Amino acid sequence: MENFCYSIRTKIYFGKGQIHNLGNAIKNYGDKVLIVYGGGSIKKIGLYDRMINILNENNITYKELSGVDPNPRIESVREGAKICRENDIQVVLAVGGGSTIDCAKVIAAAVHYENDPWDLVKNPIKITKALPIVTVLTLAATGSEMNKNAVISNMSINEKVGTASELIKPKVSIMDPEYTYSVSKYQTAAGTADIMSHIFENYFTHTEAVDIQDSTAEGLLRTCIKYGKIAVEDPTNYDARANLMWASSWAINGLISYGTKNIGWTVHPMEHELSAYYDITHGVGLAILTPHWMKYSLNNSTVNKLAQYGINVWGIDKNLDKFEIANKAIDKTSQFFKELGIPMTLREVGINEEKFEIMAEKVTAKGKLGTLYPLTKEDVINIYKMSL
Ligand code: NZQ
Ligand code: ZN
Repeated sequence: MENFCYSIRTKIYFGKGQIHNLGNAIKNYGDKVLIVYGGGSIKKIGLYDRMINILNENNITYKELSGVDPNPRIESVREGAKICRENDIQVVLAVGGGSTIDCAKVIAAAVHYENDPWDLVKNPIKITKALPIVTVLTLAATGSEMNKNAVISNMSINEKVGTASELIKPKVSIMDPEYTYSVSKYQTAAGTADIMSHIFENYFTHTEAVDIQDSTAEGLLRTCIKYGKIAVEDPTNYDARANLMWASSWAINGLISYGTKNIGWTVHPMEHELSAYYDITHGVGLAILTPHWMKYSLNNSTVNKLAQYGINVWGIDKNLDKFEIANKAIDKTSQFFKELGIPMTLREVGINEEKFEIMAEKVTAKGKLGTLYPLTKEDVINIYKMSL
């Protein structure tokens, strides 16, 4: 196991009715809030009204930034930072899915940065200070509620880039699975695929003797497979929503990556290129690429880990040939995403070969991509082609 520094400082209030903690959670940090939210789902489920009541009861004043897009735009960050400066905002309150939370994170940092916030996305070292962030999560997917990452899109230059800083980790996150009952089947499936992809990105390394991380990752994957299906079929199943929600946080809060040797993620950067050019749903892009990436990466040096995945996650007979186990596991992964209702080809989401070359060029600009089987530009193009 590699050395690591454990640092997960987000306080979590998990479960039904935990929103009642919102007032106190905010008042620890200030009483002037910027509420950041998306296209209105929080109003439809009554969360917006409940939250405003709590703010009023606690004498917390607020401004709002609404309309944050899925794949949040740098323009929203600029607008949010301006509102914060003009109103002496002390706390940024994100209410929604990963897009809203990511946008809020970069707003919180941009308030203290005098130049264009796109610099903070491209160069995380420039994040030197940030307002405290409180979140209320409404979609299980990104883990943004409990991590230091934020992904922002600049569509004018077709870039979607992730930044990261301990300074933008939420101070408090309220996670009530009931808020996710209204998430559509499509977004539920995409969210499940996103959680699983975060686990894959951490799990498929060559690090030896990381049984704690591996077995945790395998348990989380089994959880997603079991409850992803139930949540799609039965959206108000509390246990399914609760397990997915907590899995979303664990997949990417550091617990399964601490101690592993990971020189970089693979499918995520490839997907971010798809979103940057075609504005597709993140989890759907991941689900399409993942089985092809696994197939492409399968060789003598990777087969053991893929077979381990097949045995421990899919329950495939360990006495079979290890390549057979790995191939079966990959097929089961693909079949699972299909059963969740995810379109499983790039063509179905409006993507053709036109931009493969430029996307592959950009994603490998700093060298080979990923940890399990580092990919060259040609490899990336081949995987995009297999995914058509
Ligand atoms: O905008 P509203 O009206 O809220 O609707 C949203 C949006 O249309 C809707 N939604 C959210 N909660 C809902 C709901 N609809 C009904 N009921 C609810 N309770 O769902 C749609 C998608 O929301 P979004 O926030 O975009 O989804 P997600 O949480 O999947 O976030 C995706 C973004 O996060 C980035 C992705 O790249 C993408 O930009 N990621 C962030 C990461 C991180 N911070 O660590 C890691 C991930 O790998 C990912 O890259
Ligand atoms: Zn993701």
